Amino acid sequence: MLVLVNTAAALLLFPLLVFVQSLDPAFNDDVLGLIVFKAGLTDPQSRLTSWNEEDDSACNWVGVKCDPTSNRVSELLLDGFSLSGHLGRSLIRLQSLKVLQLSRNNFSGTINPILTQIPYLETIDLSQNSLSGSIPEEIFQQCGSLKEISLAKNNLTGLIPQSLTSCTNLKRLNFSSNLLSGQLFSGLWSLSSLRLLDLSDNLFEGEIPIGIDSLSVLKAVSFSKNKFVGWLPENIGNCLLLKSVDFGGNYFSGGLPISMRKLGFCRYLDVSGNLLAGDFPDWIGDMRSLEFLDVSSNNFSGQIPVTVGNLQSLKEVNFSNNRFTGNLPESFGDCVNIKVLDVGQNLLSGNMPSWIFKLSLERVSLSGNRYSGSMVIPSWMQSYQILRVLDLSSNALTGEIPSAIGNFSQLQALNISRNSLVGSIPASIGQLNTTLVLDMSYNQLHGSIPVEIGNCSSLTSLVLSRNNLTGPISVSIATLSNLELLDLSFNNFSGSLPKELTNLSHLVTFNVSFNNLEGELPVGGFFNTITPSSVTGNPSLCGSIVNHSCPAVHPKPLVLNPNSSVSNHTPLSQNLRHKRIVLSISSLVAIAAAIFIALGVVIVSILNVKARTSMARSANALTFSGTGDDYSPSNETEANSYGKLVMFSGDVDFESGAHALLNKNCELGRGGFGSVYKTDLRCGRAVAIKKLNTTSLVKSRDDFEREVKRLGKIKHENLVQLEGYYWTPSLQLLINEYISGGSLHKHLHEVEYSGSLLTWRQRFKIIVCTAKGLAHLHRLNLIHYNIKSSNVMIEVSGEAKVGDFGLAKLLPALDRYILSSKVQSALGYMAPEFACQTVKITEKCDVYGFGVLILEVITGKRPVEYMEDDVVVLCDMVREALDEGRVEECIDKKLNGGYSMEEAIPVIKLGLICASQVPSNRPDMEEVIRILELIQCPSESQEELE
Ligand SMILES: *[C@@H]1O[C@H](CO)[C@@H](O)[C@H](O)[C@H]1NC(C)=O
Ligand SMILES: *[C@@H]1O[C@H](CO)[C@@H](O)[C@H](O)[C@H]1NC(C)=O
Ligand SMILES: *[C@@H]1O[C@H](CO)[C@@H](O)[C@H](O)[C@H]1NC(C)=O
Ligand SMILES: *[C@@H]1O[C@H](CO)[C@@H](O)[C@H](O)[C@H]1NC(C)=O
Ligand SMILES: *[C@@H]1O[C@H](CO)[C@@H](O)[C@H](O)[C@H]1NC(C)=O
Repeated sequence: MLVLVNTAAALLLFPLLVFVQSLDPAFNDDVLGLIVFKAGLTDPQSRLTSWNEEDDSACNWVGVKCDPTSNRVSELLLDGFSLSGHLGRSLIRLQSLKVLQLSRNNFSGTINPILTQIPYLETIDLSQNSLSGSIPEEIFQQCGSLKEISLAKNNLTGLIPQSLTSCTNLKRLNFSSNLLSGQLFSGLWSLSSLRLLDLSDNLFEGEIPIGIDSLSVLKAVSFSKNKFVGWLPENIGNCLLLKSVDFGGNYFSGGLPISMRKLGFCRYLDVSGNLLAGDFPDWIGDMRSLEFLDVSSNNFSGQIPVTVGNLQSLKEVNFSNNRFTGNLPESFGDCVNIKVLDVGQNLLSGNMPSWIFKLSLERVSLSGNRYSGSMVIPSWMQSYQILRVLDLSSNALTGEIPSAIGNFSQLQALNISRNSLVGSIPASIGQLNTTLVLDMSYNQLHGSIPVEIGNCSSLTSLVLSRNNLTGPISVSIATLSNLELLDLSFNNFSGSLPKELTNLSHLVTFNVSFNNLEGELPVGGFFNTITPSSVTGNPSLCGSIVNHSCPAVHPKPLVLNPNSSVSNHTPLSQNLRHKRIVLSISSLVAIAAAIFIALGVVIVSILNVKARTSMARSANALTFSGTGDDYSPSNETEANSYGKLVMFSGDVDFESGAHALLNKNCELGRGGFGSVYKTDLRCGRAVAIKKLNTTSLVKSRDDFEREVKRLGKIKHENLVQLEGYYWTPSLQLLINEYISGGSLHKHLHEVEYSGSLLTWRQRFKIIVCTAKGLAHLHRLNLIHYNIKSSNVMIEVSGEAKVGDFGLAKLLPALDRYILSSKVQSALGYMAPEFACQTVKITEKCDVYGFGVLILEVITGKRPVEYMEDDVVVLCDMVREALDEGRVEECIDKKLNGGYSMEEAIPVIKLGLICASQVPSNRPDMEEVIRILELIQCPSESQEELE
């Protein structure tokens, strides 16, 4: 019968409603009323889809209940449906409605007075919406049936309507958490059926009118968090059924009304946060049902009455922040159900009441009193397994911290700060593995932090400041991975800060100021964000944050005579000839390493002779294999002693014979891992052969072969292909694809290549190719470790290929010391984390080297250049130039302006980002490729520039 109507025409509904009704008196008002109500709402969770206007009855709809006899809607229960909109007129159609529950939605606007025209309404719950405006006076004009109304947690303003007094059947009234104001009127006390009255958290003011005891069946009353003044209602104790009384957070003065002692059913009493004063009454012991008692933040004085021991149901008691004197009465020990005891911020004195630990307490605060004597923890206690929070701070406790403290196996917070405790921190502290917060500051503790602290794995906050603690800062602190706050300031800690502290990834506040710490501040992690004040007052601490450079990082320059015999035979000496140079320690390391290489050459030459003879003697002993995978086991011993040549592709023979392999004249170059020679295969194809030096560092044959075969499987257009290998215990060769164009290093820096100057477009292409090669390695979880311009080979076509990758895997262990000495020839490309034992080396070290390589390609300068009396680090130079807005000066002059600024500047910036000191700041190679694609100007195609 509702076919005439549809929701799309929702706006037309109301006039239609009148029309249809006049046609058909049997028409169901409820369906229409609810459909119109729905039409005015937003229903983001589609909770009302079952509300279909074509239904004859609404009784099966979600949130709707009907009276079984009349079949009319009696309850609308839409609690927490996330509906928004206004309370429309249409609800008036629900003439049989008894319960209207629209709590926890987003209804807005004012309360529609039309609600009162629903004759039998018993419950109105509009709590937790966004209703505003004042409560309309009309709403209570015919409220004889109303039993319960909650408007709590809205934004209602204004006064309580006087008409409320006509709701004589009202049992529950909850207007809490609004912005209601004005004074209460005594007419409220005529609502003699009231069981619950909650006016808390509003802006009510003035005194509570006399006569509240008319509410003889009142069970719960809350006036808390308003601006009431005057005395607490004197006759409140006549409301004998009261179970819950909350007057907290007002300006009540005077004392507790004596009538209260009659409240034998009262479980909950809160008068906290008022201006109540005077001695706390003894009769409190009469309120025997009390479970919760909060009198905190008043001005009560005198002793805490002994009669509290009568309150055997007490679970939670708060006497804090008053002026109580004397000691806590031992009768408290009778309150066997007590879980929470707070007597903090009073004037209590005497010995610490350690008997409290015999109770099953969960939380205790004695903080801010005048307790003295030693901190005693009796040997057997109920609280051991139960206590969660122990606050003894700001007293005058003396003596040592008892080691029984470790017995509190569930402790979450321990605060013993601001006492006069001496001795050292007991090792048993390590048993507190559930503790989140530990504060021992402002005592006179000495000795060092026990390493056991590392077992306190839940700690989020550790405060040991203002003691006299000594010794180094225990590395075990670095294992406390949940730490957010660490304060060790104002002690006598010495030694250096453990680098492992950088692992504390959740640390927000860190303070080690005013100690005797020395050495380098760790780099990375939260250390990048700490302020100078958190490390100040440690004269020997160095690092950029304290503005005090570390000797190991910026050495005093040393003058070196390049003509001295030491460096005469090194390859480096040729570069250095006729130059008086000043070198940093790192370059000295490089020179020392070069000597090492020279030595290696001698050794290898000797080995060469051996190898040549052994190869010549038993050419047929070489194992030739098509795939490199199928060895005959019978050859194993022979192969072990005589060597084995494996070509992955199947080409097995060298044109010029083994002897040419290591011919000095064919040497192409040399690096940290060995020298490279060119030779031809019998088929005429050239290969590059790398002779690995320092043989002792190479792994066992099995390991070697496994790694080399793995490397051989890596195929990418921007990676130099490994084609085979040769192995004897004393000599290992890697056979690589030969790239005729030479290395990028030669193109950029060597005179004989200056004729074939790289154009801007070629350079850009080289950068992109290198990035792609590295990205491919990283996709295979392989770190290059040794990226530098001499390892980037250029094809005649201009394609670039990255070579020499994965060689670090051939070392016996991926030891960073060996690694950095191996790649020392890559001075200037080496990521700073190589110098730091604690930072994990990741593929980001390649990104660093790549960043330096970008700058090298763009500027045509070496990563580190030795000038007349200076060492110029390329990254620093470019960064400085960029900062000073003269980055153009850095671009290779040989390009003669043949480049695009739109590309050059972003590429330089990319290089600098890649060469960030902090690994996590560097992009990964995939990102680099995407950035390069974005940088490349589409207009500047290859043809245009070449
Ligand atoms: C509540 O309704 C208002 C509009 O009346 C809307 O802006 C807001 O996003 C809604 N909030 C929620 C939680 O639905
Ligand atoms: C209540 O009103 C205040 C301002 O008077 C506003 O900031 C707040 O968002 C409102 N709350 C609700 C639930 O509408
Ligand atoms: C009043 O209503 C609010 C919101 O629904 C609720 O949190 C509070 O407990 C109610 N008050 C009483 C005394 O039940
Ligand atoms: C704490 O230590 C106890 C005993 O050593 C152990 O049983 C428990 O699992 C530990 N709890 C945590 C959170 O580490
Ligand atoms: C701190 O300890 C050191 C060494 O144990 C001692 O010399 C010094 O007097 C102590 N300082 C204080 C304030 O107790």
